[in-house]
Amino acid sequence: FTHDILTGLNVLITAGGTREDIDPVRYISNHSSGKMGYAIAEAAIESGATVTLISGPVNLDTPDRVTRVDVLSARDMHQAVHDRIEGVDIFIGCAAVSDYRPAEVAKEKIKKDPENGSETLEIKLVRNPDIIASVTGLDTPPFVVGFAAETHNVLGYAADKMRRKKMNLVVANDVADRDIGFSSDSNEVTVIGEELEEPLPRASKKVVSRKLLQIVARRFRKWKHL
Ligand code: PMT
Repeated sequence: FTHDILTGLNVLITAGGTREDIDPVRYISNHSSGKMGYAIAEAAIESGATVTLISGPVNLDTPDRVTRVDVLSARDMHQAVHDRIEGVDIFIGCAAVSDYRPAEVAKEKIKKDPENGSETLEIKLVRNPDIIASVTGLDTPPFVVGFAAETHNVLGYAADKMRRKKMNLVVANDVADRDIGFSSDSNEVTVIGEELEEPLPRASKKVVSRKLLQIVARRFRKWKHL
């Protein structure tokens, strides 16, 4: 099967969600469990790659022979990626990165205001850096694979994201279906690239990862003119 397809290549993968602090006890995050990114890391090791995994907070064991770097916020993840991007051949952004963070992190726990008894509380959010766009924008970028988690117009929005962020491939993930995508053990995706639209049928995240990496390896060689 896929034993040697990535031999000699350095692969950097992001996985899991990020956490954006509101105050010392609260944060904004999402439902990413890290399972998809970790399955890709494991499949990349099986395929012969050297793998670094930049991981948000998850409840998963580190796959054998994978170098794991733990981060919390989107800005931490951005920094960790750029600290390790040199010499990377293939970057796979599977993390669910928070697009926004609270403009200010309160130094102390935000209290309910007993004086005015307000029923609402406003938290102002500001944009986080786009990690994938910052990688494709490098002078000599690696081969970049992004994900697009969408609830409607999945393939259309995914293709838009690929062009806008200059990715080599995008993995379109329909997250409206609760049995696939966030947190589940299975997934079903469509891999989109230049003149490519390949559906990967519903299967465990491990099986989907192996199939994804076959496409990635093939397209990487073409891109490198190997
Ligand atoms: O972790 P699991 O529970 O297994 O779930 C897997 C998954 C559903 C999280 C995964 O398959 C997936 O779809 N990941 C991407 C989730 C996401 O944030 O998608 P997006 O469409 O918002 O982002 C598009 C791409 O840009 C992604 O590659 C993302 O990593 C990247 N991005 C987004 C925002 C940002 N500030 N920086 C980024 O690099």
